[in-house]
Amino acid sequence: MSRLIAKADDGTVRVVENSPARSVLSSLLLADVPIRHDCGGIAYCGTCRIRVAGDAAGLSAIGTSERERLEAVKAPPGDRLACQARAARDIEFEILDSGKPGREGLGGHRGKE
Ligand code: FES
Repeated sequence: MSRLIAKADDGTVRVVENSPARSVLSSLLLADVPIRHDCGGIAYCGTCRIRVAGDAAGLSAIGTSERERLEAVKAPPGDRLACQARAARDIEFEILDSGKPGREGLGGHRGKE
């Protein structure tokens, strides 16, 4: 077990138990931490982006689909897709879009509407 230390886009910080067998997105959702995830976790929308603070060595390597989506949304280095990343160690990051009204600014695909 490790911990996810997640700072939301409204400044609140949540500490969540994490298993490396789950994606960061799954761990956040299991703990009822709001995070936008329009495509449901298939690396298609880019709305689940997180910005890692400090050492990202505990995260899984970036795969092809994650890399392509991060490039498509012009994500800076250090950003990851919560739906693709898995954490083997404690990791601290910012949730860029909690999905709360008025905080939809990443320009990702909205999925079916
Ligand atoms: S939920 Fe769509 S890319 Fe992660």
